[in-house]
Amino acid sequence: PLVSTGELVTAARESGHGVAAFNVITLEHAEAIAAGAERAGAPAVLQISENAVKFHGGDLTAVAAAATAVARASSASLSLHLDHVESVELLRAAHPAGFSSVMFDASKLTYGDNVKATAEAVRWGHARGIWIEAELGRVGGKGGEAPLDAHAPGVRTDPAEAQSYVAGTGVDALAVAVGSSHAMTDRTAALDHALITALRDAVPVPLVLHGSSGVPDGEIRRAVAAGMVKINVGTALNTAFTGAVRTYLDAHRTTVDPRKYLVPAREAMTGTVAHFLRLMRP
Ligand code: G3H
Ligand code: ZN
Repeated sequence: PLVSTGELVTAARESGHGVAAFNVITLEHAEAIAAGAERAGAPAVLQISENAVKFHGGDLTAVAAAATAVARASSASLSLHLDHVESVELLRAAHPAGFSSVMFDASKLTYGDNVKATAEAVRWGHARGIWIEAELGRVGGKGGEAPLDAHAPGVRTDPAEAQSYVAGTGVDALAVAVGSSHAMTDRTAALDHALITALRDAVPVPLVLHGSSGVPDGEIRRAVAAGMVKINVGTALNTAFTGAVRTYLDAHRTTVDPRKYLVPAREAMTGTVAHFLRLMRP
């Protein structure tokens, strides 16, 4: 069934679990997330990024309708989340399109401008029952920019700043920079576990880990055990998808029916989804 992101995150936090959120690009991604959630017996978040909306021509209606239908038809509890939204116009489109939550990403702005823009997004969202996540301290690596050095001091979220940020914006969840980086295709990121604990103690809202594709299993389990609640995974699905397509097409040089290679691609993503979901209960 289709549920709200807020209820999934609250339930996970109360039981000391994590809830994984997976990025949807194609219909097969949404189907694989539902199948993986059913296989693992766990809920999940279907998230569509601003970049994915741009890929689909800039209008989120069709992709949101497809993800909603997949969620409704599934026996797993699935929610719909709009991810990394920088455009206020897209933020406002989230409500009619049926999203229960949005990550409003003003992390490229200065601290003061980030607080101002995010507080405005929260006022808008809360008036419509929409749960709002925001980011402080850049995770990096998004949109082709060079991933920031995972150990560079500048890419960590400061706990004292996080505390005033959450108080000043009223956000429902906080995405933090603790050592992960977006778009990693190997799983070598090292998390700053002392910082995760300090951030958990500093803010009253659940923490969100972005760029989880590059974080090893053990590190994810440890982060969840320390109170990291929403775990965002994107690239790992694409690594599985594209790897399966490449293997199939290398072995079948004359194939033209896309279903021939989309079947193994979707199955590979399903396996990846189920794998990450099993890390949510440390
Ligand atoms: O918001 C989405 C996530 O942060 C995904 O990051 O593609 O590196 O797993 P990833
Ligand atoms: Zn992200």
